[in-house]
This record gives sequence, C-alpha cells and structure tokens, in this order.
Amino acid sequence: MKIFASYNIKGGVGKTTTAVNLSYLAARDGYRVLLWDLDPQGAASYLFRIKPRVKGGGKALIKGTKSVDAAIKGTDFDGLDLLPADFTYRNLDLLLDAAKRPERRLASLLAPLKAEYDAVFLDCPPSISLLSESVLHAADLLLVPLIPTTLSVRTLDQLTQFVGGFNGHQPDVLAFFSMIDRRKRLHTQIAQELPAGRSFATTVIPSASLIEQMSVHRAPVAAFAPRSQAARCYGELWREARERAGLGQAASPDRAAVRE
Ligand SMILES: Nc1ncnc2c1ncn2[C@@H]1O[C@H](COP(=O)(O)OP(=O)(O)OP(=O)(O)O)[C@@H](O)[C@H]1O
Ligand SMILES: [Mg+2]
Repeated sequence: MKIFASYNIKGGVGKTTTAVNLSYLAARDGYRVLLWDLDPQGAASYLFRIKPRVKGGGKALIKGTKSVDAAIKGTDFDGLDLLPADFTYRNLDLLLDAAKRPERRLASLLAPLKAEYDAVFLDCPPSISLLSESVLHAADLLLVPLIPTTLSVRTLDQLTQFVGGFNGHQPDVLAFFSMIDRRKRLHTQIAQELPAGRSFATTVIPSASLIEQMSVHRAPVAAFAPRSQAARCYGELWREARERAGLGQAASPDRAAVRE
C-alpha cells in the first residue's frame, strides 16, 4: 500500500482537485483506492457526492474508539472508497496533541488497511500543523501543487527541508505546477526556470475551465470529459506519481478496459 498526500501549506492551489482526479485515475487503473478527506471543509467529499459526516467525529477516529474501516463509504466509482470529512476535523490538532506520538498517529491508523487498499490518498487542509506533520510522516509521496510564483517555490523549499530533517521515514516530494496560464509571461518564465535542482514532475496542469467545472458535475474531470486535455494531463501526472512511488501492477483488471 502506498500513501499519497496532496499537500501544500498554501490554500487554493489545487490540492483537492489533485487528490480527487488522481484517486479516480488510480481506481480506473484497477488499484484498490481509498481517499481520506482530512479537510473539515469537505470539498473532496462534496465532489464525490458523499455527506461529510463521520459518526463520533474525528475524536472517535483519533482515539481509536471507531475503526477507520467502519467510517469508509463507497463512491460511485468501482474500486474507489472515501473516508469522509467531518466538521470536527477542525479540532484534529488538539485531538492529536492528546494522543501518544501524534506525528505517527495517522500512519498507525492507516496501517491496518494494508490488505484492503493498494493506494491511499490524503487530501489535506492548507496548514502546517500537527495534523500536517502526521500526514507528512505517514506519506510515501507528497504531491505538491504550486501556482507558479517565486514565493510558492520558496514554500516548497521550506517543505523539502522540513521533511528532510525527519528521523526514520521521509516522504518523497513531487512538486508540479497547477493552474499554469500560458498567457502569463511570469508563469511561463517561472515554470521554465524554477524546477532546476528541485523535485518537479514533468507534467504541468494548465488552468482550465473544465477543471473548475468539476464542482458543477461533482465528478473528476476524467469521468465527465475523458478526452479533454485536462484529463490527459492528470493521467500523465498519475503515471509520474505512480512510478515515483514505486506502485506495482494493479491486481484487478484495468477498469477502463473492462468498460470499453
Ligand atoms: N487547473 C485548474 N484550472 C482551473 N481551476 C482550477 C484548477 N485547479 C483547481 N482549480 C480551481 O481552483 C479552486 C481551488 O482548487 P482546490 O480546491 O483543488 O484547491 P485546494 O488547494 O484544495 O484549496 P484549499 O486549500 O481550500 O483546500 C477550485 O475552485 C478549483 O476548481
Ligand atoms: Mg482542498
């Protein structure tokens, strides 16, 4: 089981969009996938048409009085399950603070799911907190969407340095530009110059109105516009992420092939 975390300290950069599209594409490839919507805003739950509610709230999950397994819901897509958001997740920091070894808590909550899932995606709220630290410790690969500005790349350097200082397990980092607008000179310039010496994906996600329309369709872009450029870009990003994380072949058949 590989754990992918869609993470950035900054808000509104495309974390949820990435987690939703890549988890869908992973399931379509035949992997058994779980997406955990860790953001109390519940955007990923909304996009998969699932009520952002966990009985007992974040407290029951963190304390272990409710198993993660029992809170999981199926989505409309084969092979893709969702652990919904809950408004009480806004207190996850406090709950983790009260737990033993808080930075390891998420990893230990997910460990029993190893036999059930090939890939877990974590959609994180924008912050640098105890929760994010627990996410960073649990993840095999951090997917870091960036808007092309000099400051956002500085944030990436801080993040890389931070995880580089972890004892024991360190997640790999895969940054990529999201919402690139080719008409903006600054975007093109930064996208060309800044990847040098940093761990950047070759794939670039364009700014596209089809991607924005995910909230209207309440579905991943590849589900309602499979032949679009946007869907193709997420497909490429998923291939890069999968290879980087060293995820083996899916055991179940390719669901796309089965459908066609
Ligand atoms: N490539 C894109 N092109 C156009 N719009 C995009 C693109 N990616 C994301 N968006 C839009 O930008 C907004 C923010 O995206 P998203 O919710 O994925 O960001 P986020 O980092 O998860 O935000 P938050 O920090 O609030 O959780 C959304 O309205 C989304 O539809
Ligand atoms: Mg989000």
